[in-house]
Amino acid sequence: VIEKLVARQILDSRGNPTVEVDVYAKVNGQVKLIARSSAPSGASTGSNEALELRDGDKGVYGGKGVLTACKNVNEILSPQLKGKELFDQNVLDELMCKIDGTELKTKIGGNAITATSFALAEAAAILNDEPLFLHVAKNFYGKDKIPKKFALPVPMVNILNGGKHAGGKLKIQEFMIVPSRNVPFKERLRRVVAVYHTLGGLVVKKYGVSAKNLGDEGGFAPLIDTPDEALNIIEEAITTAGFKVGEDIGLALDSASSEFYDSEKKLYEITEGKFLTSEELVDYYVELVKNHPGIMSIEDGLDEKDYAGWINMTQKLGDKIMIVQDDITTSNPRLIKQGIEEKWANALLLKINQIGTMKEGYEAVRLIHGNNGSVVVSHRSGETTNSVISDLVVGIGAGYIKTGAPARGERTAKYNRLLQIEEYLEEHGML
Ligand code: PGA
Ligand code: ZN
Repeated sequence: VIEKLVARQILDSRGNPTVEVDVYAKVNGQVKLIARSSAPSGASTGSNEALELRDGDKGVYGGKGVLTACKNVNEILSPQLKGKELFDQNVLDELMCKIDGTELKTKIGGNAITATSFALAEAAAILNDEPLFLHVAKNFYGKDKIPKKFALPVPMVNILNGGKHAGGKLKIQEFMIVPSRNVPFKERLRRVVAVYHTLGGLVVKKYGVSAKNLGDEGGFAPLIDTPDEALNIIEEAITTAGFKVGEDIGLALDSASSEFYDSEKKLYEITEGKFLTSEELVDYYVELVKNHPGIMSIEDGLDEKDYAGWINMTQKLGDKIMIVQDDITTSNPRLIKQGIEEKWANALLLKINQIGTMKEGYEAVRLIHGNNGSVVVSHRSGETTNSVISDLVVGIGAGYIKTGAPARGERTAKYNRLLQIEEYLEEHGML
């Protein structure tokens, strides 16, 4: 049973404070630290995300301190979770939701709750002496209904960064490569790393040494002007590395378009000085997919409130590519239900800290899987080195994971964990 939770302020990959939570339990009469985990943090956040509780004292960490969130764990969550069994994540997450009492976790703080939810999951797995993905599966499917076989996800690997994650002119935030599913995970990873390194060489040749600087998610950040130019050089990297575009390695975009949408004028600035209406932007994507047939997914192609635009895009491209909703649904089951009814998209980006707890994330996934949609489990641009999302994606059987470039420790921690899980599944005949 849980003895206590202890929260502290640590740093994320951008050097901003975030919440880390330790879980203590009584084992054979002795109080022991069992596990710890932490919350990630986004930059291009959706307006309906769970509240990231920040202290707001401008003199300390630019107002981004999370000491209040930590205090809420220590003084509110800890005493109320004390004495509870660790194994049923759903019950513990539900209890935290009740204690907070708000949809967007504005009382305790979404950062406090996500860090606690992650840490409780890690602790339960350790006490049960099982890998975390199995603990996730038990809570997702039900204890006696977990599948005998599991699969590794296809990674959507962000190798070129724009938008809020880089300092260049490119408005589209992420250019990703997506290896085909028909090879083992370790081979999927080897292929994308080969392309990543090849791209590094190409951007230096074309744009100079500073082009090799990395954006927030570990992708290169060359001074490129247009999506076309970015896609061309990525396609060149794929071919140069010895692969076929579209066959061995596909392409995916995250426009994060709320960041370049002017909601008053209702115009999207797709490249510097070029403004498009919602309809024009969808036609632009249609053309982009025609010219770059390797594109198999576009995330947040439209603003988070441009519902008509989403429906239009799904009608025009939904049978060809994945239309992934991130900021529009913010992993919130209530919004996801609405999106399913109104046919906003055909795929979901799942970020637990957008809604708060693992349990709410499971609900979101059940809704999407129940409607033949795809799920992409995702990191945030601000991360820590925990690898909960790697176990999450395998445990719930989601098809895809998005966790940045194969570089920078907080990104590779997730890829490396997937390598460990693949090995475990092989050894146990569970693949
Ligand atoms: P964020 O970016 O973590 O900064 O929100 C990731 C994404 O938009 O998918
Ligand atoms: Zn996104």
